[in-house]
Amino acid sequence: MPTWVIVGASRGIGYQYLKTLSSEPSNTVIGIARTIAPVEANLAKDNLQNVHIIPGDLTDSASLYAAAEKVSSIANGTVDYLVVNGAHVSISTLGLLPGACTDSATEALLLSELDICMRTNVMGALYSINAFMRLLLKSDVKKVVCISSGAADTEIYDKCDMKDQLPYCMSKAALNVLVAKFAAQYRGEGVKFLALSPGYVLSIAESLDQMPPQLVEIFDKLTEGFKKINPDLKGPVSPKESVGQQLKVIENLTLEHSGEFLSHLGNKQWV
Ligand SMILES: NC(=O)c1ccc[n+]([C@@H]2O[C@H](COP(=O)([O-])OP(=O)(O)OC[C@H]3O[C@@H](n4cnc5c(N)ncnc54)[C@H](OP(=O)(O)O)[C@@H]3O)[C@@H](O)[C@H]2O)c1
Repeated sequence: MPTWVIVGASRGIGYQYLKTLSSEPSNTVIGIARTIAPVEANLAKDNLQNVHIIPGDLTDSASLYAAAEKVSSIANGTVDYLVVNGAHVSISTLGLLPGACTDSATEALLLSELDICMRTNVMGALYSINAFMRLLLKSDVKKVVCISSGAADTEIYDKCDMKDQLPYCMSKAALNVLVAKFAAQYRGEGVKFLALSPGYVLSIAESLDQMPPQLVEIFDKLTEGFKKINPDLKGPVSPKESVGQQLKVIENLTLEHSGEFLSHLGNKQWV
């Protein structure tokens, strides 16, 4: 009866993890979210009765240690899989180019968004892993997955025309370093770590038609860029498809490959 903890589970890919995992009755599924009431309302609407929701904020270490205490009492002191999914995506710097940061207001924006991205996407993962390590070490499975992004692969920037998104990309690259460091530290204790990119996923709406035109424009630009590394790409996939693929990669994770940075396809094909 494996226990899964998903940190940052309120919506998008994180919420899909709750849905997919809870469809297997033998799983104990625990989601951690900043604000639990709307998540509980969605779970009720989707008739998902076997999911626990606990408050926790990636930028607040104490809240994650408190969450781990609550998880411990639900899951008899053991966590098999920890998935750190939540992230600050930094919408305000999506189109910001490094060479455009030449005035104090833009420099300040960059610095402040970098701060939020590093606190949420990197330190949040560190807090989560440390808070749950005591419970993970009691498991026979011992798997930690941090949701990274193909946008951390510096080799695709030129190819995909991805010159912008500095704070987000920098934080995901730093996350990959953190994952590899944790893997090196805990290899002897059998804990397996993975930085996993979920692919190109439409997580904010059911379909592109339901999105405001300015967001459709952003997705069209992304799709056009990604077609340069995968000409067969049609567009973003659903959270359901992505999570199904991610779970296969997680199941295949062994200690030998601990610390790697892989895609939802289990390789370096990001889209
Ligand atoms: N969608 C893609 O194509 C794509 C591609 C590559 C990587 N990713 C990665 O996949 C993961 C999920 O992405 P998504 O598309 O599902 O994103 P999303 O729809 O923007 O959801 C982000 C999630 O992170 C949570 N979160 C943000 N800050 C948090 C904090 N301080 N504490 C706790 N939770 C926090 C949000 O919770 P609130 O509701 O409280 O804000 C929300 O549940 C992220 O790590 C993202 O970087 C996504």
